[in-house]
Amino acid sequence: MAPSYLSLAFLLLGESFASQLPLFESASTSQIHLAAKKELVSSKSLQDSIHADSLFERAKTLYSIAELGEGEYNHPTRVIGSKGHLGTIDYIYSTIAELGDYYVLSNQSFPAVVGNVYESRLVLGSEVPVSAIAMSLTPPTTGKEPVLGPLALVSNVGCSASDYPDLSGKIALISRGECPFGTKSALAGRAGAVAAVVYNNEKGALGGTLGTPSPDHVATFSISDSDAAPHIKKLKNGELVEASAYIDAIVESIETTNIIAQTKEGDPDNCVMLGGHSDSVAEGPGINDDGSGSLTLLEVATQLTNYHVNNCVRFAWWAGEEEGLLGSDYYVSVLSPEENLKIRLFMDYDMLASPNFAYQVYNATNAVNPVGSEELRDLYTEFYTSHGLNFTYIPFDGRSDYDAFIRHGIPGGGIATGAEGVKTEAEQQMFGGIAGDWFDPCYHQLCDNLANLNLTAWELNTKLVAHSVAMYAQSFDGFPKRTSFEAAAVPDALPGKYHGHQLQL
Ligand SMILES: *[C@@H]1O[C@H](CO)[C@@H](O)[C@H](O)[C@H]1NC(C)=O
Ligand SMILES: *[C@@H]1O[C@H](CO)[C@@H](O)[C@H](O)[C@H]1NC(C)=O
Ligand SMILES: *[C@@H]1O[C@H](CO)[C@@H](O)[C@H](O)[C@H]1NC(C)=O
Ligand SMILES: *[C@@H]1O[C@H](CO)[C@@H](O)[C@H](O)[C@H]1NC(C)=O
Ligand SMILES: [Zn+2]
Repeated sequence: MAPSYLSLAFLLLGESFASQLPLFESASTSQIHLAAKKELVSSKSLQDSIHADSLFERAKTLYSIAELGEGEYNHPTRVIGSKGHLGTIDYIYSTIAELGDYYVLSNQSFPAVVGNVYESRLVLGSEVPVSAIAMSLTPPTTGKEPVLGPLALVSNVGCSASDYPDLSGKIALISRGECPFGTKSALAGRAGAVAAVVYNNEKGALGGTLGTPSPDHVATFSISDSDAAPHIKKLKNGELVEASAYIDAIVESIETTNIIAQTKEGDPDNCVMLGGHSDSVAEGPGINDDGSGSLTLLEVATQLTNYHVNNCVRFAWWAGEEEGLLGSDYYVSVLSPEENLKIRLFMDYDMLASPNFAYQVYNATNAVNPVGSEELRDLYTEFYTSHGLNFTYIPFDGRSDYDAFIRHGIPGGGIATGAEGVKTEAEQQMFGGIAGDWFDPCYHQLCDNLANLNLTAWELNTKLVAHSVAMYAQSFDGFPKRTSFEAAAVPDALPGKYHGHQLQL
C-alpha cells in the first residue's frame, strides 16, 4: 500500500512537494514514506477531528496554569509578567514541541510595558466621585503619597499646549476627545500639574489607558460626565474647588514572548496565518479571553499534523494583547517587506466561547481593508449559513491582533462571540441566551473561568477555524494576490479609538 500512496502523493503534490525535498535529504526512506503517506488536508476531515471534550480538557489545564498567578496577584491570572503567563507560554511551546518535526517552532521576545495600580483615591471638593478610576499605565502620585491642590479647568479638549495655563501645584480637569489620554496627561504634566482627571465627553463612566509611558505623564484618573458636571460649573463661575489625588502604582518594562509555529511542509512563500493571544488581563484567568482562541489554535495545530498541506500554515500566540496589541504589533513591525508579502492573510481568533454568545464575523470589507479581507469574511458567513446558523457583522475597528496586519497591507478578518456588548432582543431570537446581558458577563473579570465557556459555540467555532485553515492550506486559487505592504487606507480608523481592548482616546 505504501508505494501507491507515495506515487499518488507525488502526483497530487507536484511542485510544492518537490521544493520541500531538501528538507528530507538526510531522512531515511521510511521517514519519506511517513511524510508522504499523509493525505492532503480536507475541511471535512480536519473538522471531524475537533471535539468539545478535548477543548475542555485543555481549558482545565489552562485554568490550573492561571492559578500559578495566585502568589503575586491573590487570584488566578495569566497577565504578562505573571507566573500564569509564563506557564501558558511553556504549555503552548511544549505542546507544539511534542508534535515532533511537523512544525518549526520559534519564540519571539520583545519588551513590554506593564502597569499595576495597587490603590487610588480621588476627592473633588468634598466629594469622592463614584466613577473615578486610575487609568491604566498611570504613574503614581509623587512619592506614592496624596497630592493636594486646586482643581483647574483645561480649555477646549486639552490637545494642545496652549489649552493649559500654568498648572503648578494644581490638579488638571480635562475633557475627553480628539487626542489620546496619554497626550492630555503629558501636556498636564508639562504645565506643572500634580495630577490630572479626564472626564467623559459622552454619557457614562470612562476608563482607558495612557498608552506608551512618557516621563511627562502625571497620575491620571478618569471620571464620568455627570461626576464632572457640578465641578465644571463651579470652576466656570470662578469658584475654588480643592482636590486631592492619590495613586500607588508601578509602570515597568519587562520582556515577554510570542510563540510562532510554522509547518515545514507547504509553500513557504504563500502562508496562511492565524493567531490568538496567550495573555489575560490582571483581573482574572482569561479562560474565554483568550484561552478559548489560544486553545482552539493548539487543538487545530495538533490535528493538522495528520495531514499534508500545500500552503504553509503559521500559527501565532501573541503576548501583551491586553496591554495594547503589543505582541502582534511587534511581530508585524519587524517583518521585512519580503516576509510581509509571504503572508497571504491573517485570521484573528479572540474569544470564541462566550457564555451568552452570538456568532460574530468582523465586517472586514475590501473597500476599506486590504483586498482579500472580504473573501475571508465571506468564507465565515458561508460556513454559518450552510449550517443553518445566524451570524452578525461586528465592526473591524482595531480591538484585536488583526490591527497591525491590515495596517501593513495584509488581508485580515476573524470571528468572535462577544465581549462586554449587550445582547439585543433580536440577537436573543437569533442565538438564544439572554437579551440585556453582556455576551461575556465575565469579560476581563475574575469569573472568566471554566464556567465561562459555552462548549457548543466553542466547538462549532473551532470547526470553523479548522475549515479556514484547511481551505487555505489546500489552495489560494481565486484568493487575491498580495500587492502591497503599505498601510491600508483605513480612512476613519486612523488613529483608532481602540488599539486593543482599552480605550486610548
Ligand atoms: C521558548 O520558550 C519556551 C517557553 O517559555 C521555552 O521552554 C523554550 O526553551 C524557549 N526556546 C528558546 C529557543 O528560547
Ligand atoms: C460593513 O462595512 C461596509 C463598509 O466597508 C459598510 O458599508 C456596511 O454597512 C457594513 N455592514 C454592516 C452590517 O455593518
Ligand atoms: C435565526 O434567527 C431567526 C430570527 O431572526 C430565528 O427565528 C431562527 O430560529 C434562528 N435560527 C437558529 C438556528 O437559531
Ligand atoms: C450553550 O449554548 C447552547 C445553544 O444556545 C445552549 O443550548 C447550551 O445550554 C449552552 N451551554 C451552556 C453550558 O451554557
Ligand atoms: Zn482578547
